[in-house]
Amino acid sequence: TKKIILDTDPGIDDAMAILFAEAHPSIEMLAITTVYGNATIDNATRNALYLKQKFHLKADIVKGTNKPLNRPPVGPTVVVHGESGFGDLVPPSDITEKTDPRPAYQYIIDTVKAQPGEITLVAVGPLTNIALALEAAPEIVDLVKEVVVMGGAFGMNGHRGNVTPYAEANIHDDPHAADIVFCASWPVVIIGLDVTQQSFFTEEYLDRLRDDAGDVGQFIWDVSRYYLRFYSQKVGLKGCHVHDPSAIAYVIDPALFTLRQGPVRVVTDGPAEGHTIQKFDTRTYQNDEWSSMPAQQVGISVKDEELLKLYRQSI
Ligand code: BDR
Ligand code: CA
Repeated sequence: TKKIILDTDPGIDDAMAILFAEAHPSIEMLAITTVYGNATIDNATRNALYLKQKFHLKADIVKGTNKPLNRPPVGPTVVVHGESGFGDLVPPSDITEKTDPRPAYQYIIDTVKAQPGEITLVAVGPLTNIALALEAAPEIVDLVKEVVVMGGAFGMNGHRGNVTPYAEANIHDDPHAADIVFCASWPVVIIGLDVTQQSFFTEEYLDRLRDDAGDVGQFIWDVSRYYLRFYSQKVGLKGCHVHDPSAIAYVIDPALFTLRQGPVRVVTDGPAEGHTIQKFDTRTYQNDEWSSMPAQQVGISVKDEELLKLYRQSI
Protein backbone atom coordinates (compact mmCIF):
# COMPACT_ATOMS: atom_id res chain seq x y z
CA THR A 1 0.00 0.00 0.00
CA LYS A 2 1.00 3.61 -0.56
CA LYS A 3 0.69 6.10 2.27
CA ILE A 4 -0.69 9.42 1.10
CA ILE A 5 -1.48 12.84 2.45
CA LEU A 6 -4.24 14.28 0.29
CA ASP A 7 -4.09 18.08 0.07
CA THR A 8 -7.44 19.25 -1.21
CA ASP A 9 -10.06 22.02 -1.46
CA PRO A 10 -13.31 20.06 -1.21
CA GLY A 11 -14.95 20.73 -3.68
CA ILE A 12 -17.17 18.31 -5.63
CA ASP A 13 -14.52 16.40 -7.61
CA ASP A 14 -12.31 16.57 -4.52
CA ALA A 15 -14.99 14.60 -2.66
CA MET A 16 -15.02 12.12 -5.56
CA ALA A 17 -11.23 11.78 -5.15
CA ILE A 18 -11.34 11.43 -1.35
CA LEU A 19 -13.91 8.62 -1.55
CA PHE A 20 -11.88 6.91 -4.29
CA ALA A 21 -8.70 6.99 -2.18
CA GLU A 22 -10.67 5.70 0.80
CA ALA A 23 -12.19 2.86 -1.20
CA HIS A 24 -9.04 1.49 -2.82
CA PRO A 25 -7.07 -1.06 -0.77
CA SER A 26 -3.68 -0.03 -2.15
CA ILE A 27 -3.97 3.47 -0.62
CA GLU A 28 -3.64 4.34 3.03
CA MET A 29 -4.86 7.92 3.41
CA LEU A 30 -3.11 9.24 6.52
CA ALA A 31 -4.55 12.71 6.32
CA ILE A 32 -6.66 15.15 4.39
CA THR A 33 -5.07 18.58 4.54
CA THR A 34 -7.34 21.38 3.40
CA VAL A 35 -6.73 24.50 1.39
CA TYR A 36 -8.84 27.42 0.12
CA GLY A 37 -9.82 27.19 -3.55
CA ASN A 38 -13.16 25.76 -4.59
CA ALA A 39 -14.52 26.90 -1.22
CA THR A 40 -13.37 29.12 1.64
CA ILE A 41 -10.91 27.41 3.98
CA ASP A 42 -13.65 27.12 6.62
CA ASN A 43 -16.10 25.46 4.27
CA ALA A 44 -13.42 23.23 2.71
CA THR A 45 -12.39 22.05 6.18
CA ARG A 46 -15.98 21.56 7.32
CA ASN A 47 -16.65 19.53 4.16
CA ALA A 48 -13.67 17.29 4.90
CA LEU A 49 -14.81 16.80 8.50
CA TYR A 50 -18.27 15.96 7.22
CA LEU A 51 -16.89 13.25 4.93
CA LYS A 52 -14.82 11.86 7.80
CA GLN A 53 -17.89 11.64 10.00
CA LYS A 54 -20.30 10.33 7.36
CA PHE A 55 -18.00 7.69 5.92
CA HIS A 56 -15.92 6.88 9.03
CA LEU A 57 -12.63 7.88 7.42
CA LYS A 58 -9.52 7.15 9.47
CA ALA A 59 -7.62 10.07 7.93
CA ASP A 60 -6.74 13.02 10.14
CA ILE A 61 -8.32 16.25 8.95
CA VAL A 62 -5.91 19.17 9.06
CA LYS A 63 -6.77 22.77 8.31
CA GLY A 64 -4.51 24.57 5.86
CA THR A 65 -4.01 28.09 4.69
CA ASN A 66 -6.68 30.57 3.63
CA LYS A 67 -4.68 32.54 1.06
CA PRO A 68 -2.00 32.33 -1.63
CA LEU A 69 1.69 32.79 -0.74
CA ASN A 70 2.18 36.36 -1.83
CA ARG A 71 -0.90 37.77 -3.39
CA PRO A 72 -4.35 38.76 -2.12
CA PRO A 73 -6.87 36.04 -1.16
CA VAL A 74 -8.98 34.63 -3.98
CA GLY A 75 -12.69 33.97 -3.51
CA PRO A 76 -14.37 30.55 -3.66
CA THR A 77 -15.37 29.15 -7.07
CA VAL A 78 -19.11 29.40 -6.38
CA VAL A 79 -20.08 29.04 -10.04
CA VAL A 80 -18.51 25.56 -10.21
CA HIS A 81 -18.82 24.15 -6.69
CA GLY A 82 -21.60 26.23 -5.08
CA GLU A 83 -21.53 28.43 -1.98
CA SER A 84 -20.87 25.48 0.36
CA GLY A 85 -18.27 23.86 -1.91
CA PHE A 86 -20.52 20.79 -2.09
CA GLY A 87 -22.98 22.12 -4.66
CA ASP A 88 -26.59 21.93 -3.44
CA LEU A 89 -25.55 20.09 -0.29
CA VAL A 90 -25.02 21.98 2.94
CA PRO A 91 -23.33 19.77 5.53
CA PRO A 92 -25.08 19.74 8.93
CA SER A 93 -23.85 22.08 11.65
CA ASP A 94 -23.51 19.30 14.27
CA ILE A 95 -20.26 17.75 13.07
CA THR A 96 -18.39 16.31 16.04
CA GLU A 97 -15.17 15.34 14.28
CA LYS A 98 -12.29 17.72 15.00
CA THR A 99 -9.25 18.91 13.09
CA ASP A 100 -5.67 18.14 14.11
CA PRO A 101 -4.38 21.18 16.06
CA ARG A 102 -1.44 21.82 13.70
CA PRO A 103 -1.56 23.91 10.54
CA ALA A 104 -1.44 21.72 7.41
CA TYR A 105 2.11 22.61 6.40
CA GLN A 106 3.43 21.64 9.85
CA TYR A 107 1.48 18.37 9.80
CA ILE A 108 3.02 17.60 6.40
CA ILE A 109 6.55 18.32 7.66
CA ASP A 110 6.11 16.26 10.84
CA THR A 111 4.62 13.26 9.05
CA VAL A 112 7.18 13.23 6.24
CA LYS A 113 10.06 13.44 8.75
CA ALA A 114 8.59 10.68 10.88
CA GLN A 115 8.30 8.34 7.88
CA PRO A 116 11.14 9.21 5.50
CA GLY A 117 10.72 7.86 1.97
CA GLU A 118 7.22 6.59 2.73
CA ILE A 119 4.83 9.45 2.02
CA THR A 120 3.28 10.40 -1.30
CA LEU A 121 1.84 13.92 -1.29
CA VAL A 122 -1.21 14.13 -3.53
CA ALA A 123 -2.27 17.72 -4.16
CA VAL A 124 -5.57 18.47 -5.88
CA GLY A 125 -6.05 22.11 -4.91
CA PRO A 126 -3.88 25.26 -5.00
CA LEU A 127 -0.33 24.29 -3.99
CA THR A 128 0.08 26.78 -1.13
CA ASN A 129 0.29 24.29 1.77
CA ILE A 130 2.94 22.24 -0.03
CA ALA A 131 5.00 25.35 -0.84
CA LEU A 132 4.73 26.53 2.78
CA ALA A 133 5.99 23.14 3.97
CA LEU A 134 8.92 23.36 1.53
CA GLU A 135 9.80 26.88 2.63
CA ALA A 136 9.71 25.99 6.32
CA ALA A 137 11.58 22.68 5.94
CA PRO A 138 13.45 22.46 2.63
CA GLU A 139 14.96 19.14 3.72
CA ILE A 140 11.64 17.38 3.04
CA VAL A 141 12.49 17.33 -0.70
CA ASP A 142 14.70 14.34 0.05
CA LEU A 143 12.19 12.62 2.35
CA VAL A 144 8.98 12.65 0.31
CA LYS A 145 8.47 9.61 -1.92
CA GLU A 146 6.61 11.41 -4.69
CA VAL A 147 4.39 14.44 -5.26
CA VAL A 148 1.35 13.88 -7.47
CA VAL A 149 -0.46 17.03 -8.55
CA MET A 150 -3.76 17.60 -10.33
CA GLY A 151 -3.22 20.95 -11.97
CA GLY A 152 -1.98 22.86 -14.94
CA ALA A 153 -2.70 23.08 -18.62
CA PHE A 154 0.18 22.50 -21.00
CA GLY A 155 -1.70 23.17 -24.23
CA MET A 156 -1.37 19.61 -25.51
CA ASN A 157 -4.13 18.25 -27.73
CA GLY A 158 -5.70 21.71 -27.72
CA HIS A 159 -6.40 21.54 -23.98
CA ARG A 160 -5.84 24.95 -22.44
CA GLY A 161 -6.89 26.65 -19.24
CA ASN A 162 -10.28 26.53 -17.58
CA VAL A 163 -10.10 29.82 -15.66
CA THR A 164 -8.35 31.87 -18.33
CA PRO A 165 -7.28 30.78 -21.81
CA TYR A 166 -3.94 29.70 -20.29
CA ALA A 167 -4.53 28.87 -16.64
CA GLU A 168 -6.04 25.92 -14.86
CA ALA A 169 -7.78 26.70 -11.54
CA ASN A 170 -5.37 25.13 -9.03
CA ILE A 171 -2.34 26.80 -10.60
CA HIS A 172 -4.21 30.03 -11.28
CA ASP A 173 -5.04 30.41 -7.58
CA ASP A 174 -1.37 30.38 -6.54
CA PRO A 175 1.11 30.34 -9.43
CA HIS A 176 4.05 31.22 -7.15
CA ALA A 177 3.39 28.19 -4.94
CA ALA A 178 3.10 25.94 -7.99
CA ASP A 179 6.39 27.22 -9.39
CA ILE A 180 8.14 26.49 -6.08
CA VAL A 181 6.72 22.96 -5.94
CA PHE A 182 7.60 22.13 -9.56
CA CYS A 183 11.14 23.57 -9.34
CA ALA A 184 12.04 21.64 -6.18
CA SER A 185 14.24 18.60 -6.61
CA TRP A 186 11.74 15.97 -5.62
CA PRO A 187 9.86 13.76 -8.08
CA VAL A 188 6.66 15.48 -9.23
CA VAL A 189 3.99 13.99 -11.48
CA ILE A 190 1.57 16.54 -12.90
CA ILE A 191 -1.81 15.40 -14.16
CA GLY A 192 -3.28 18.49 -15.81
CA LEU A 193 -6.29 19.35 -17.94
CA ASP A 194 -4.52 17.87 -20.96
CA VAL A 195 -5.21 14.50 -19.33
CA THR A 196 -8.22 15.06 -17.07
CA GLN A 197 -10.30 16.43 -19.93
CA GLN A 198 -9.80 13.14 -21.77
CA SER A 199 -12.13 11.25 -19.41
CA PHE A 200 -15.75 11.89 -18.55
CA PHE A 201 -18.19 10.93 -15.85
CA THR A 202 -21.35 10.97 -17.94
CA GLU A 203 -24.84 11.32 -16.46
CA GLU A 204 -25.41 7.60 -17.12
CA TYR A 205 -22.16 6.68 -15.39
CA LEU A 206 -23.13 8.66 -12.29
CA ASP A 207 -26.66 7.20 -12.33
CA ARG A 208 -25.18 3.70 -12.34
CA LEU A 209 -22.89 4.60 -9.46
CA ARG A 210 -25.90 5.83 -7.48
CA ASP A 211 -27.80 2.61 -8.22
CA ASP A 212 -24.95 0.19 -7.50
CA ALA A 213 -22.64 1.79 -4.95
CA GLY A 214 -24.69 2.25 -1.78
CA ASP A 215 -24.31 5.36 0.37
CA VAL A 216 -21.09 6.40 -1.34
CA GLY A 217 -22.67 6.17 -4.80
CA GLN A 218 -25.70 8.11 -3.60
CA PHE A 219 -23.50 10.82 -2.09
CA ILE A 220 -21.45 11.20 -5.27
CA TRP A 221 -24.67 11.48 -7.25
CA ASP A 222 -26.15 14.07 -4.87
CA VAL A 223 -23.02 16.21 -4.68
CA SER A 224 -22.55 16.16 -8.46
CA ARG A 225 -25.95 17.66 -9.40
CA TYR A 226 -24.72 21.27 -9.14
CA TYR A 227 -21.48 20.38 -10.94
CA LEU A 228 -23.39 18.83 -13.85
CA ARG A 229 -25.51 21.96 -14.18
CA PHE A 230 -22.33 24.02 -14.44
CA TYR A 231 -20.90 21.64 -17.05
CA SER A 232 -24.07 21.61 -19.05
CA GLN A 233 -24.55 25.40 -18.97
CA LYS A 234 -20.97 26.64 -19.26
CA VAL A 235 -18.92 23.84 -20.80
CA GLY A 236 -21.62 22.27 -22.97
CA LEU A 237 -21.14 18.72 -21.65
CA LYS A 238 -23.67 16.18 -20.41
CA GLY A 239 -21.33 15.01 -17.69
CA CYS A 240 -18.12 16.24 -16.12
CA HIS A 241 -14.40 15.83 -16.55
CA VAL A 242 -12.51 13.56 -14.20
CA HIS A 243 -10.11 16.02 -12.56
CA ASP A 244 -9.11 15.18 -8.98
CA PRO A 245 -9.90 11.43 -9.11
CA SER A 246 -7.31 11.17 -11.90
CA ALA A 247 -4.51 12.01 -9.45
CA ILE A 248 -5.69 9.18 -7.19
CA ALA A 249 -5.89 6.87 -10.20
CA TYR A 250 -2.26 7.69 -10.95
CA VAL A 251 -1.25 6.69 -7.41
CA ILE A 252 -3.12 3.39 -7.73
CA ASP A 253 -2.05 2.51 -11.25
CA PRO A 254 0.57 4.71 -12.93
CA ALA A 255 0.38 2.51 -16.04
CA LEU A 256 -2.96 4.13 -16.91
CA PHE A 257 -1.05 7.27 -17.90
CA THR A 258 1.56 8.21 -20.47
CA LEU A 259 4.01 10.78 -19.16
CA ARG A 260 6.50 13.19 -20.69
CA GLN A 261 9.66 14.19 -18.85
CA GLY A 262 11.22 17.63 -18.47
CA PRO A 263 11.51 20.67 -16.20
CA VAL A 264 8.34 22.66 -15.51
CA ARG A 265 7.85 26.35 -14.79
CA VAL A 266 4.80 28.47 -14.07
CA VAL A 267 4.09 31.93 -15.48
CA THR A 268 3.53 34.16 -12.44
CA ASP A 269 2.25 37.36 -14.05
CA GLY A 270 0.88 38.89 -17.22
CA PRO A 271 -1.89 37.59 -19.48
CA ALA A 272 -0.64 34.00 -19.34
CA GLU A 273 -0.40 34.03 -15.53
CA GLY A 274 -0.88 30.51 -14.20
CA HIS A 275 0.19 28.85 -17.42
CA THR A 276 2.40 25.80 -17.02
CA ILE A 277 5.31 25.20 -19.37
CA GLN A 278 7.42 22.10 -19.77
CA LYS A 279 10.73 21.93 -21.60
CA PHE A 280 10.50 18.49 -23.11
CA ASP A 281 12.73 18.54 -26.17
CA THR A 282 16.28 19.52 -26.94
CA ARG A 283 15.55 21.87 -29.82
CA THR A 284 15.69 24.97 -27.65
CA TYR A 285 19.38 25.57 -27.84
CA GLN A 286 20.13 28.25 -25.28
CA ASN A 287 22.05 26.93 -22.33
CA ASP A 288 19.90 28.68 -19.76
CA GLU A 289 18.57 27.86 -16.30
CA TRP A 290 16.24 25.16 -17.68
CA SER A 291 19.19 22.81 -18.17
CA SER A 292 19.94 22.58 -14.47
CA MET A 293 16.35 22.15 -13.32
CA PRO A 294 14.85 18.90 -12.04
CA ALA A 295 12.98 16.92 -14.68
CA GLN A 296 9.36 16.32 -13.70
CA GLN A 297 6.72 14.12 -15.30
CA VAL A 298 3.69 15.58 -17.06
CA GLY A 299 0.70 13.47 -18.09
CA ILE A 300 -0.08 13.48 -21.78
CA SER A 301 -2.67 10.73 -22.09
CA VAL A 302 -4.80 8.34 -20.08
CA LYS A 303 -6.53 5.03 -20.75
CA ASP A 304 -9.88 6.59 -20.00
CA GLU A 305 -12.03 3.45 -20.20
CA GLU A 306 -9.75 1.67 -17.76
CA LEU A 307 -9.72 4.64 -15.42
CA LEU A 308 -13.54 4.72 -15.38
CA LYS A 309 -13.62 0.99 -14.71
CA LEU A 310 -11.11 1.32 -11.86
CA TYR A 311 -13.14 4.12 -10.27
CA ARG A 312 -16.39 2.22 -10.53
CA GLN A 313 -14.94 -1.02 -9.18
CA SER A 314 -13.31 0.78 -6.25
CA ILE A 315 -16.38 2.77 -5.27
C1 BDR B 1 -9.37 21.70 -10.49
O1 BDR B 1 -9.97 22.90 -10.00
C2 BDR B 1 -10.99 22.60 -9.09
O2 BDR B 1 -12.17 23.21 -9.48
C3 BDR B 1 -11.16 21.11 -9.10
O3 BDR B 1 -11.45 20.62 -7.81
C4 BDR B 1 -9.86 20.58 -9.60
O4 BDR B 1 -8.95 20.38 -8.56
C5 BDR B 1 -9.70 21.55 -11.96
O5 BDR B 1 -9.22 22.63 -12.68
CA1 CA C 1 -9.67 20.33 -6.24
